[in-house]
Amino acid sequence: MGAQRLDEVRAAFLADIESAGGDAAAVENIRIRYAGRRSGLLLDLTAALRELPNEEKRDYGRALNELKKLVADRLEAAKSGAHTRQASGPGFDVTLPGLTLPKGAQHPVHLVRQRIEEIFLRMGYDVEDGPEIEDDRHNFEALNIPPDHPARDDQDTFYVSGGRLLRTHTSPVQARVMEQRKPPIRIIVPGKVYRRDSDLRHSPMFHQIEGLLVDEGVTFGNLKATLETFLHALFSEHGVDVRFRPSYFPFTEPSAEVDITCIFCGGSGCGVCSRSGWIEILGSGMVDPRVFEGVGVDADRYTGFAFGLGLDRVAMLLYGIPDLRQLFVGDQRLTRQFA
Ligand code: PHE
Repeated sequence: MGAQRLDEVRAAFLADIESAGGDAAAVENIRIRYAGRRSGLLLDLTAALRELPNEEKRDYGRALNELKKLVADRLEAAKSGAHTRQASGPGFDVTLPGLTLPKGAQHPVHLVRQRIEEIFLRMGYDVEDGPEIEDDRHNFEALNIPPDHPARDDQDTFYVSGGRLLRTHTSPVQARVMEQRKPPIRIIVPGKVYRRDSDLRHSPMFHQIEGLLVDEGVTFGNLKATLETFLHALFSEHGVDVRFRPSYFPFTEPSAEVDITCIFCGGSGCGVCSRSGWIEILGSGMVDPRVFEGVGVDADRYTGFAFGLGLDRVAMLLYGIPDLRQLFVGDQRLTRQFA
């Protein structure tokens, strides 16, 4: 008996709410009829519980709670729908709070990537992409890193089947693009890379951006000017100085590591820069002629430069994030700050 009455009320409520459409006044009438505090139908149903034989009380009580929840949810949904549908009609109360959707935020690494892309797009570069699961040839051999080369020790990675591996840097895309296209080439390549590394400053997955320019008559002076322009733009709020230090990469000759003055102490020396006043920011160099030969670019006619930097590290510097791992744990307390 009791259960049947619940079903009737449920059916009647659903029919009423349906026929109210988006009309706010109709929805309010329905609310009073069913959920009114002094005389609503739900009140009657609650009172009826007392009359039931004990063995029926449990099931009836549970079904009644479900019905109450249904009524509350549907009324709520109908009410918020009513606001939007009446937004332009007469009697719309413009002082009602709107429906606010939660606002998303862009991840700091993504923000850095966009910022760098904008700088290079202005300089006429294209943005390229390449596979994260690479073959040995593009990740190593084409970049002048044969199987017994010691440079492989610094870039141990995760191997998958078929001799493939998770790429250890974005440099393989240099080789891929040069195989497919004749110079002039002017590209940057942002993307994920992988290494067998994990601590405060290293994560097994991180992000790099690669740059490559190949044309006739490209000099080390062009490399210097380009990277200085880039770094001044990227750290424009900090007014950094840039210095080049001789270095070594198998696929560039000569090679240089590039530092900026520490953005935390302005170059006087602090904990972040290990009291040196400088922060290492990228690797670069003139493309080694052996790389050109391996991918079919005429090394007598063309020269070029390449560079690579870590996006995560730039995000840490620009936004003062002390632990690299915070970028990847998905804690919204970090990302919300960028909304
Ligand atoms: N691929 C190098 C690295 O990951 C960086 C680099 C890129 C150096 C291009 C020189 C030229 O360490």
